[in-house]
Amino acid sequence: MSASYKAVGWNRQKKIYDGLIFAFCVVYLLIFCGLTLVFNPEVTFETLLIRSSSTLAVLLLHIILSIGPLCRINKKFLPLLYNRRHLGVTMFCVALVHGGFGIIQFHTLGNTSPFLSLFTSNTRYGSLADFPFQALGFFALLIFFLMAITSHDFWLHNLSPRVWKTLHMFVYLAYVLIIMHVMLGVIQYETNPVFVLILFIGAITLILLHLYAGSMEVKKDNIYFGLQKKGFVKVCTINDIEENRAKMFCVDKERIAVFKTEGKLFAINNVCKHQNGPLGEGKIVDGCITCPWHGYQYLPKNGQSPPPFKERVSTYDLEIEGADIWLNPVPYPEGTERPGVIF
Ligand code: HEM
Ligand code: FES
Repeated sequence: MSASYKAVGWNRQKKIYDGLIFAFCVVYLLIFCGLTLVFNPEVTFETLLIRSSSTLAVLLLHIILSIGPLCRINKKFLPLLYNRRHLGVTMFCVALVHGGFGIIQFHTLGNTSPFLSLFTSNTRYGSLADFPFQALGFFALLIFFLMAITSHDFWLHNLSPRVWKTLHMFVYLAYVLIIMHVMLGVIQYETNPVFVLILFIGAITLILLHLYAGSMEVKKDNIYFGLQKKGFVKVCTINDIEENRAKMFCVDKERIAVFKTEGKLFAINNVCKHQNGPLGEGKIVDGCITCPWHGYQYLPKNGQSPPPFKERVSTYDLEIEGADIWLNPVPYPEGTERPGVIF
C-alpha cells in the first residue's frame, strides 16, 4: 500500500509459496527428463534442456492465467493469487533458459550478432510453413521480461495502477505469440505433436474458464433491483450478510460492497485501488476491510486506508427498514466519511 513506498519483507506465507513453486518445477523437470530418456534415449543434452524448460514455462503460464478466473469461481483458490507475481517471475526465468539457450544454440555460430541473426537468418515472413517462429518467442519473452521487472509493488506505485495493469494485460498477447511460436515451430522441427495437443487442450481450458468466470460476473452485474424509493434500492436483508463479511451489489453500473460489523452496516466501492480486487469478497480484519487478493485495507466508515497509507474508495448511503437493507448507489467522493447504519 502506498504512503511513500516501503518494501514488504518475506513473510512465512511467501516462503511457503516460493518453496512450493520450486518443488513443483524440480518435480516437473525430473519427470519430463526421466520420461524423455526412457522413450528417446538418444536425446541430446541441448534438446533436453530446450524442451524441458519450454514446456515447463508453458505449463506455468497456463497456471498463471487460470488463477484469475478460478478465484472468481471459487474463493478456495485465493491463496494462489496472493503471490501470483512470484509464479510469473519464475515462469520468465524458466522461459529465459529456453529462449537464451535457443539463441546460443542456433544464432551464435555465425558472423552476425545473435539478435540480428534471430531476425535475419530466416526472412520468410510471408510463408506459413517456414515462418521465423523464433522471433515470435522472442517478443513473448520480451513481454514476460517487462512484466517480471515491473512486477514489484514499487513499480505499481510509481507507474500508477492503471498503467501497470495495462502493461500486465499484455500477457494475453504474449500467450497468443507463444501458441503461434509452438504451432509454427512444430511444423518445421517436427517436434512431438503431443506438445500441440497439450497446448490445444490448455488453450481451450483457459478460454472456457475465462468465459465461465466472465458470465458469473455479468450475471452478478445484471441483477435487477425492483424496489426503489427516493434514490435507494432494496438490495437484501440483514441476515443475508455474515458478520465481518460483505455482499456485493452492482447498481447503476456501480459495484458496491455492503459490510456488516459490530451492529452496523457500511457501503464502500467494491473495487480495490491496488489491482481492482473485489473488496466485497474480503473480510474485516482488525476493524479494516481487507482485500482478498493482496491484503490492502480500508476503514469501513470512510473507505480510506488506515494512516500512513493513502488509498481511498467511494462510500455510499444505506438505510434500514425492518430487516431490509436499502442502498443509494450515488457515490460520495473517495474517502468521504459516512456514519453507516445501526441495525
Ligand atoms: C528468444 C526467445 C525464444 C527462442 C529463440 C526460442 C526458440 C525455440 C526453438 C528453436 C524451438 C524448437 C526447439 C526444438 O524442438 O528443437 C522452440 C520450441 C518451443 N518453444 Fe521457444 N523460443 C523462444 C521463446 C519461447 C518462450 C518465451 C516460450 C514459452 C514461454 C517458448 C516455448 C516453446 C515451446 C513450448 C516449444 C515447443 C517444445 C520444444 O520443442 O521445446 N519459447 N523454441
Ligand atoms: S487487488 Fe491487490 S490488494 Fe486488492
